[in-house]
Amino acid sequence: MLMDRFGRTIEYIRLSVTDRCDLRCSYCMPKGFKGFEEPENWLTFDEIARVIGAFTRLGTRRVRLTGGEPLLRRNLPQLAARLSALPGLDDLSLSTNATQLHKHAEALHDAGVRRLNISLDSLRRDCVSELTGSDSLPRVMEGLMAAKAAGFAPIKINMVAMKGVNDGDIEAMVAFCIEHGFVLRLIEAMPVGDTGRAAHFLDLQPVLARLQQQFGLLPQAADLGGGPARYWSTPDGRFTLGLITPISQHFCATCNRVRLSVDGTLYMCLGQEERFELRPLLRAGCSDAELEAAIREAIELKPERHEFRERPGKIVRIMSMTGG
Ligand code: 5AD
Ligand code: SF4
Repeated sequence: MLMDRFGRTIEYIRLSVTDRCDLRCSYCMPKGFKGFEEPENWLTFDEIARVIGAFTRLGTRRVRLTGGEPLLRRNLPQLAARLSALPGLDDLSLSTNATQLHKHAEALHDAGVRRLNISLDSLRRDCVSELTGSDSLPRVMEGLMAAKAAGFAPIKINMVAMKGVNDGDIEAMVAFCIEHGFVLRLIEAMPVGDTGRAAHFLDLQPVLARLQQQFGLLPQAADLGGGPARYWSTPDGRFTLGLITPISQHFCATCNRVRLSVDGTLYMCLGQEERFELRPLLRAGCSDAELEAAIREAIELKPERHEFRERPGKIVRIMSMTGG
């Protein structure tokens, strides 16, 4: 088992398979951004499988594939199949912007991916164009429907809620999610990189109060994905709302995760600098025992909490480098 200095068990790893993306969400990637990792520094599928294998031997049960946009990594379903075959791994999920999902939904489901998080901030085509820098809504819709048809469950919509940008779209998104049986997760914009800091932060506590009243939402005790979201459902269970509130109510005390970037760096926290580079070890031919020892050493570095409120200027890397 992996336990950090603060008694938290680390049983979840977010795996960024690429730092590239076909969108440029205003709160994430700067327009014209060029600082991508060189392909020779990308961990290969063999290297990734080795690292995740070591994590599973140390008690990690869940892996989320993320990016950048993970579906830009060629043959991702092959990697997914290798990871789902690892003994001890019982939850493989994917976060995607869904622009390419219609092409890969079935193959991903066949490869053992079951849970999907899809980024979608509005149902208005012009708003999505403005926010993502491309007219992506029709393809995202196609991807969402392909995912539904392929049998993924649950499908969660991640909506970064921003004041004056898409806060007026929340009710329409609720209706859409009820219609299709999707879980809606509202996320507070985090001050990660200049782009994250420029996002118009919206406190979600008043939004929750409004939706609770409107839909008679009841708090759910069960956590739906082992993550930081808190959930509420309608009494008939037809609609579930999740809230991710890193700013207005942070959840660091129960943090159970670390992140592996495409270049093989373990990041201990989205909001701090602590990290550990595994690629040099892997490429120097380390043994499995050495790899496991390195992972234990890395976990020792995990900080107690982020400081998004106290030090919002701290993190200069953008979200797509670490995998949100
Ligand atoms: N704050 C909050 N969420 C962010 N994401 C990207 N940048 C930010 C930010 N600054 C989210 C995306 C997506 C996930 C990968 O990370 O909306 O759902
Ligand atoms: Fe791409 Fe996701 Fe960043 Fe948007 S938030 S630019 S979809 S990585």
